[in-house]
Amino acid sequence: MAKQKSNYVCQNCGASSPKWIGKCPSCGDWNTYQEEILTQTKAGKKTLDKSGPASKPIPIAEVGSQQHVRIGLIDQELNRLLGGGLVKGSAVLIGGEPGIGKSTLLLQVSLGMKGKVLYVSGEESLEQIKLRADRIESKSSKCFLLAETNTDAILSSAEEVQPNVIIIDSIQTLHSSVIDSPAGSVSQIKQASAEIIHFIKQKGIPVFLIGHITKEGQLAGPKVLEHMVDVVLQFEGDRQHNFRLLRSLKNRFGSTHELAIYDMQADGLREVSNPSNVLLEQRDTELSGIAVACSMEGVRPMLIEVQALVSTAAYGTPQRSTTGFDSKRLNMLLAVLEKRCGFRLGTKDVFLNIAGGIKVSDPALDLAVVAAILSSNQDESIDPKTCFIAELGLSGEIRPVDRIEQRLAEASNMGFEKAYISAYHKTKLKQQFSIEIVSSKRIDEFYRKLI
Ligand code: TYD
Ligand code: MG
Repeated sequence: MAKQKSNYVCQNCGASSPKWIGKCPSCGDWNTYQEEILTQTKAGKKTLDKSGPASKPIPIAEVGSQQHVRIGLIDQELNRLLGGGLVKGSAVLIGGEPGIGKSTLLLQVSLGMKGKVLYVSGEESLEQIKLRADRIESKSSKCFLLAETNTDAILSSAEEVQPNVIIIDSIQTLHSSVIDSPAGSVSQIKQASAEIIHFIKQKGIPVFLIGHITKEGQLAGPKVLEHMVDVVLQFEGDRQHNFRLLRSLKNRFGSTHELAIYDMQADGLREVSNPSNVLLEQRDTELSGIAVACSMEGVRPMLIEVQALVSTAAYGTPQRSTTGFDSKRLNMLLAVLEKRCGFRLGTKDVFLNIAGGIKVSDPALDLAVVAAILSSNQDESIDPKTCFIAELGLSGEIRPVDRIEQRLAEASNMGFEKAYISAYHKTKLKQQFSIEIVSSKRIDEFYRKLI
């Protein structure tokens, strides 16, 4: 007879307690504890059994260094994001909002694989997946579909098919028979992913796990899931826009802060290998309130358009609204402009938008944001062949940014003729650029040079 044990688990952080608690002592959230029944079946015990040959500690010098074997995917952007291809036996977690394109991306990857792929879906029927595949218009005889949620069944199918890559859509739908709690609960996610990861590590088969995210934009499920996998990617973007960004948040086999850009079209996702071209494509050059910045996403510079609208506040409290930019940072920049340059922006509404629906957090955007605000405030347009690359400090100093040479090279390649940067870089630039460089030390000096 299986022994039943019940436990209360925080659905936010995964902390557990034998009794129900209102406020989680670990993460501080309220009403997150749910009862989960643990059934200790024989199979469950077996996974916890430690009676194997005990591993011995060995000196580090004797450990053989092993090169990661990587599988090249059809998607070059994804290859770059993963650090040069998919490492054998690695677990990659992809999180994102519903409808952003996670299933589309991985189906595209599956259909483009040379080897066998096992695509497991717990969310959609096989016919639905087939419909999507028809939309993508790519044919493959090596992609095996499986509509299943039980981990034992999935793993035995994987034994049978012997795929080169496994795709699980999604981790929240999986169900392990070891635990009795419902699919999607913290214990289920933990157990099901542990079983899958254990299997793929033994067999050396890479797996993509699709994960849902919560209202706050965090990956749903326990934080421990992010610790268990090797790579965490986040799919983001604005559903009203076509651009989708895939960011790497953790990568045991490559660098993080990389970014891949896709364009969602009627027939699937297209890679955008030159984002500056696409993001600056639809520019109307005569308008005020527009400035171009050069942001660094991973190792790739990207020119993006910053748009600002400054207008007299209709109500007592002026509005501040941003899309794709941190609103606290905007408030700080406005305060600096007010204090160091004397602009009375405290009584104005300020709206800020990063064109293309993308989100950026590079501080090198500060100067372009300031320029766009000033341009809108004075209602004078900025020369379209000008770009701005610098951070702004609290005392109004124009601060240097990293990889300035790469950014200037990108701007100059894209046909820009003038770049405003920090005076700190002036003597340190090793390369000669065809672009005219205007450097300033402080924000008031920058303003005098701009007008
Ligand atoms: P999907 O991959 O189902 O999203 P997720 O798995 O992240 O929930 O993507 C669904 C959206 O993408 C849907 O709104 C329709 C759109 N789409 C296209 O625009 N073009 C396409 O070729 C496909 C397959 C989907
Ligand atoms: Mg999906």
